[in-house]
Amino acid sequence: MSAPGSHCPPNDRWGRFASLAPKGAAWIIDAKVARLHPAVLRSIRAPLQVELVTAGEDLKSTRALERLAPKLLGLPRGGTLVAVGGGTVGDFATVVAHLVKRGVTLVQVPTTLLAAVDSSVGGKGALNVGKVKNALGVFHYAARTLLCPELFETLTPAQHREGIAEALKMAVCLDAAVWKRWSRRAPGTLELVKTARALKARVCAADPYEQTGRRSVLNFGHTFGHVIESLSGFRVHHGEAVALGMLCALDVGRAMERTPWPLAEQVEAVLTARTGASRGRLKAVLERHPAEEVGRLLGADKKSAGGALRMVLLERPGVARLVEVPRWA
Ligand SMILES: NC(=O)c1ccc[n+]([C@@H]2O[C@H](COP(=O)([O-])OP(=O)(O)OC[C@H]3O[C@@H](n4cnc5c(N)ncnc54)[C@H](O)[C@@H]3O)[C@@H](O)[C@H]2O)c1
Repeated sequence: MSAPGSHCPPNDRWGRFASLAPKGAAWIIDAKVARLHPAVLRSIRAPLQVELVTAGEDLKSTRALERLAPKLLGLPRGGTLVAVGGGTVGDFATVVAHLVKRGVTLVQVPTTLLAAVDSSVGGKGALNVGKVKNALGVFHYAARTLLCPELFETLTPAQHREGIAEALKMAVCLDAAVWKRWSRRAPGTLELVKTARALKARVCAADPYEQTGRRSVLNFGHTFGHVIESLSGFRVHHGEAVALGMLCALDVGRAMERTPWPLAEQVEAVLTARTGASRGRLKAVLERHPAEEVGRLLGADKKSAGGALRMVLLERPGVARLVEVPRWA
């Protein structure tokens, strides 16, 4: 029998939350989701513990871990922790599930589109340290993911765009046919979620613990994306930051003659139309900060090695590669 949190392919159940909620688990729930969807708390049966948390990057901190973990120590070995929320709740709960009793079973209930298409697949949990995004992290795969479309009904258009950005990233980096289809016609939410999850799961299965480098393509747009999040004090949310970061990666790709101009122009047009990521917004976010600060944060990127910056660049639809970026690019 494999240890809780070991790699497994996504085990997705689709349906209404009330019909899928497991019994006898401990729960970490986004308080906003609990307020917007009273059926969530009403449907939970025989819980061991229910913790309502405020979502956001502050939750992904050692401070929050210290505050919340002691409340979950009553979870038995072999117990189940359920995370209900977006990516910050999922990332935080993944770390907790990894640490409590040296690992308990994790069930994810992603409630943002971003969490449904991306963060609830692939087993990563992380905490930020100061301004450095995801500085501490674990791999702990969810044993089951509950996808409840009624929970997405309260998302704002901006939150939808953030999920769309990550799903478009998956398509353009991983699958030329999906990219071709999606660039012509925007998919509906169910197609977006199912396809993006399957694309990400395929890469994670090939490199479950990020050892061969195959997974690194998922970081397209993330090098500058994380810097943008940090510079803005996390006021620019992850999905928008990644969309802007993809524009930067297209520029670097063009400068290094890795990304063909027509492809870069096409990807930028789709991103701008579907996610609102624009040159004007990028300029507004970056120009408030000295270049040295940007450089320092780029240097803290986990993909950097020995002072050299490494970035994922797009070479053709469905093909992206991690490359070393010289200073002149
Ligand atoms: N682990 C991974 O592989 C991975 C991948 C991508 C992103 N991430 C992480 O995910 C995080 C971003 O995720 P996010 O955008 O979901 O952030 P989030 O969890 O902060 O949620 C964003 C906002 O949406 C609200 N919300 C959640 N569900 C809602 C609903 N159904 N209706 C209305 N509002 C709702 C939250 O309360 C919050 O205010 C970042 O920290 C990023 O680093 C992790």
